[in-house]
Amino acid sequence: MSGALNDDVLGLIVFKADLQDPASKLTSWNEDDNDPCSWTGVTCSPRTNRVTELNLDGFSLSGKIGRGLLQLQSLQKLSLSKNNFSGSLNPNLSRLESLWTVDLSENNLSDSIPDDFFRQCRSLRTISLANNAFSGEIPPGVGSCSTLAELNISSNRLSGRLPSGLWSLYGLRSLDLSGNSLSGDIPMGISRLYNLRAIDLGGNRLSGGLPDDIGGCSLLKSLDLSENLLAGKLPETLQKLSMCSYLSLGSNSFSGEVPTWIGEMKSLETLNLSSNGFSGQVPDSIGNLQVVKRLDFSRNNFTGSLPESIGICKSLLEVDFSQNSLTGDLPTWIFELGLQSISISGNKMSGSIQIPITTDQALRILDLSSNGFSGGIPVDMGNIHGLQFLNLSWNSLSGSIPASVGELKSLQVLDLNGNRLNGSIPPEIGEAVSLNELNLHKNSLTGGIPTQIGNCSSLTSLILSQNNLTGPIPSTLANLTNLQTIDLSRNKLTGTLPKQLSNLLHLLSFNISHNLFSGDLPAGNFFDTIPPSSISDNPGLCGSLVNRSCPAVLPKPIVLNPNSSSPNPSSNSAFSPGKLRHKKIILSISTLIAIGAAALIMLGVFTITVLNLRVRAAATSQSAAALVLSDGYYSHSPGTEADSGKLVMFSGNDPDFSAGAHAILNKDCELGRGGFGTVYKTILRGGRPVAIKKLTVSSLVKSQEDFEREVKKLGKVRHPNLVTLEGYYWTPSLQLLIYEFVSGGNLYRHLHESSASNSLSWRERFDIILGIARSLAHLHRLNIIHYNLKSSNILIDGSRDAKVGDYGLANLLPMLDRYVLSSKVQSALGYMAPEFACRTVKITEKCDVYGFGVLVLEIITGRRPVEYMEDDVVVLCDVVRGALEEGRVEECVDGRLGGKFPVEEAVPVVKLGLICTSQVPSNRPDMAEVANILQLIRCPLNGPEEELS
Ligand SMILES: *[C@@H]1O[C@H](CO)[C@@H](O)[C@H](O)[C@H]1NC(C)=O
Ligand SMILES: *[C@@H]1O[C@H](CO)[C@@H](O)[C@H](O)[C@H]1NC(C)=O
Ligand SMILES: *[C@@H]1O[C@H](CO)[C@@H](O)[C@H](O)[C@H]1NC(C)=O
Ligand SMILES: *[C@@H]1O[C@H](CO)[C@@H](O)[C@H](O)[C@H]1NC(C)=O
Ligand SMILES: *[C@@H]1O[C@H](CO)[C@@H](O)[C@H](O)[C@H]1NC(C)=O
Repeated sequence: MSGALNDDVLGLIVFKADLQDPASKLTSWNEDDNDPCSWTGVTCSPRTNRVTELNLDGFSLSGKIGRGLLQLQSLQKLSLSKNNFSGSLNPNLSRLESLWTVDLSENNLSDSIPDDFFRQCRSLRTISLANNAFSGEIPPGVGSCSTLAELNISSNRLSGRLPSGLWSLYGLRSLDLSGNSLSGDIPMGISRLYNLRAIDLGGNRLSGGLPDDIGGCSLLKSLDLSENLLAGKLPETLQKLSMCSYLSLGSNSFSGEVPTWIGEMKSLETLNLSSNGFSGQVPDSIGNLQVVKRLDFSRNNFTGSLPESIGICKSLLEVDFSQNSLTGDLPTWIFELGLQSISISGNKMSGSIQIPITTDQALRILDLSSNGFSGGIPVDMGNIHGLQFLNLSWNSLSGSIPASVGELKSLQVLDLNGNRLNGSIPPEIGEAVSLNELNLHKNSLTGGIPTQIGNCSSLTSLILSQNNLTGPIPSTLANLTNLQTIDLSRNKLTGTLPKQLSNLLHLLSFNISHNLFSGDLPAGNFFDTIPPSSISDNPGLCGSLVNRSCPAVLPKPIVLNPNSSSPNPSSNSAFSPGKLRHKKIILSISTLIAIGAAALIMLGVFTITVLNLRVRAAATSQSAAALVLSDGYYSHSPGTEADSGKLVMFSGNDPDFSAGAHAILNKDCELGRGGFGTVYKTILRGGRPVAIKKLTVSSLVKSQEDFEREVKKLGKVRHPNLVTLEGYYWTPSLQLLIYEFVSGGNLYRHLHESSASNSLSWRERFDIILGIARSLAHLHRLNIIHYNLKSSNILIDGSRDAKVGDYGLANLLPMLDRYVLSSKVQSALGYMAPEFACRTVKITEKCDVYGFGVLVLEIITGRRPVEYMEDDVVVLCDVVRGALEEGRVEECVDGRLGGKFPVEEAVPVVKLGLICTSQVPSNRPDMAEVANILQLIRCPLNGPEEELS
């Protein structure tokens, strides 16, 4: 450590001691150093080694600006901007002999600015105290600091009047007092500041007129008096400011006409007269402003038309004439000058919008809203490739939205609301990939919301309200995760709301009121708190919010092992019990059925033996003993004729169960099991096979009388596509149904357990669908509801035609059990019509139409109606409906067809299937209609021989 402590080291260490340095910016400041010249932020004169500059901008320092700095005798420049210094300004700072520049801007300094700071000033040229919290008046002594060239006290809390001493600062080149609360007049005398280049008094409360002598500041380049309370006419001397390039008088109360001499201010680049009371015409002389770039005449009372002379202002980039009372057509220069921004909104202009075919348009912003423009939206709009903002709202535009909107790749805002546009929203809208806001409110648009809207991934606001839009909400909308506002109210939109909409986490408003939506609302997030007025007036909508119970709100289908008809349930992995979520429910239902069935297998062997005996016995009138034995086994007391079993064959022939009676019903002969019972194959004596169904729900069966009446009704049904019921056997505890035997296995196996090589061809599938449709139409004509449609109940015969089995059996059950059984069995598999969930809704044949629709989709896609994934349930109808909306329905057709199918048949059949699965029963067609439609769909070329049967 050498000799006497250097003054500068001492001063800076004292200065440092007064402040906090949370970012440790000043660690290099070490009091043991001989000089501070290597310290961060410190600059010394190489000659004297004294500190000349201290620059600590943006060091996050806080605390007071202490006295230490007064030690820095050679300091010329002090810059402490962008810190968090507080406290007041030390008046002695200005006494530093050499100090030229003080920049304390962007701190938190407060209190009034001490008068002595200016009165004691020695050589200060530049002072910035901007962006602090100084209050009080501008000290009257300010005029004493005659060396000042730049004074910036903007953005503080100064009040009071402008001191007349200000105009004594003869050397002043730049004065910025903007953003305070200064009031009173701008005093005369400003012309003494003949060096003044820039003055900004904007954002105060100055009143009175512009001082007449302003024209004396002949070097003035920038004059900003905006946002004050200044009034009166523009003083004529203003025109002498021939060097002035920036003139902003916006947001005052100036009035009168804009004088013609404005054209003399030939250096003007920006002329801002917005938000005043100017009136009359926009002067032609504007055309003299050859370097002008920005004209803002908005929010005045200008009248007349826009002068054509502006067309010679070759430098012009932005014009804003919005909110005046301008009339006439769009001037030709508007699209010819290469402007970047045009706003003429809120005037009374008219005529059509003509865009010349110029390829290289610089235009970014075009706002012609709220005028009387008519005609169409020009197709050539698509040429303005850089367009970001287009507002043509509230005019009288007609015609359709041109597809060329898709060429506007930079377009962020498209506002066409309040016009007379018709036609549909072009799908090309999806190519306008930057779109942020789309507003088409209040037009006459028709057609659907294009699915391609899902490509506008930046969309935050989508407003399509008050049109005549139809069709559903495309599910792709749920991809637009930035969406905050969706308004689709007052249209004719239909369908259910895509559930994925609840993934829109930023949603603030979702208004679908006054439409024809149906079904339930999506659950979760925004939809839990949606205001009722956002969904009102949608007659088909249901759920607690609209106080209407939802037929569509089924619990997720109950998982029941659908392989109960398959010999080896575990072979089917998607359904294998190990993977199932709802295992408990499965057990409770399927075990019951399984246990019941297993118990009866044993009994079954016995019974059939007895049955056989009885038939034979009948021939010899010696049957009672055997029968009594059989029934006794089941529980009835033996010995009475009333308990005897009864066998009826509708054909009148005796059945003859010849082939080894004891083996007949063992497990090897089991054909399948279903909700109603187990089916066994057996051979009649003549060698003819039959299928015998043993009803497992025997305890639920009605009285013998009811049972026989229902069965006889079923026995009369004859149709080539129905499995014929040939007879029955009845005792109070055991019921058998004897059916025609169909050799080819069931449709379920053909669809889900066959390889590509022997899977059904398109033609076979179509014939099966048609066969099912015809058989159901036949049943419905006889007032028989099938109730239990599913692919395992459709049998396929040797020539691969469909034969529908198991029809009408629900009628054998009492009402309640019919409901329970049918809903449990069916919903598990996905065939159950939604109305089953609602006990109050009458079940009609339309529930078969629903099941048929599901079957159609299953047959065409080769997929199960409901697929249970690891933690998800995939419902086939939803998948296919989604694909149809996205126009890729062909992709759904079973891959095993290897693409060999006529698209012109496949698509309409899929649509028909979807219509049949409408949520609302009355929307589903009759089976007779369905059969007719299917015949029309069949391509004549492929099947000319097919005629109505
Ligand atoms: C004109 O001045 C107003 C009010 O100060 C301001 O809001 C507007 O942005 C200015 N216009 C231009 C083009 O700078
Ligand atoms: C379009 O102009 C209208 C009327 O001038 C205005 O109300 C609306 O906010 C503008 N749209 C956008 C997106 O700025
Ligand atoms: C939508 O985006 C996808 C992928 O980003 C693209 O394949 C598709 O062509 C786009 N559709 C439209 C209409 O732009
Ligand atoms: C958009 O949504 C569709 C279906 O709604 C989906 O298939 C697609 O993958 C989604 N695209 C993106 C980019 O998320
Ligand atoms: C939804 O729109 C309707 C009709 O346009 C309107 O009456 C209702 O107030 C809107 N609801 C909300 C919550 O914005």
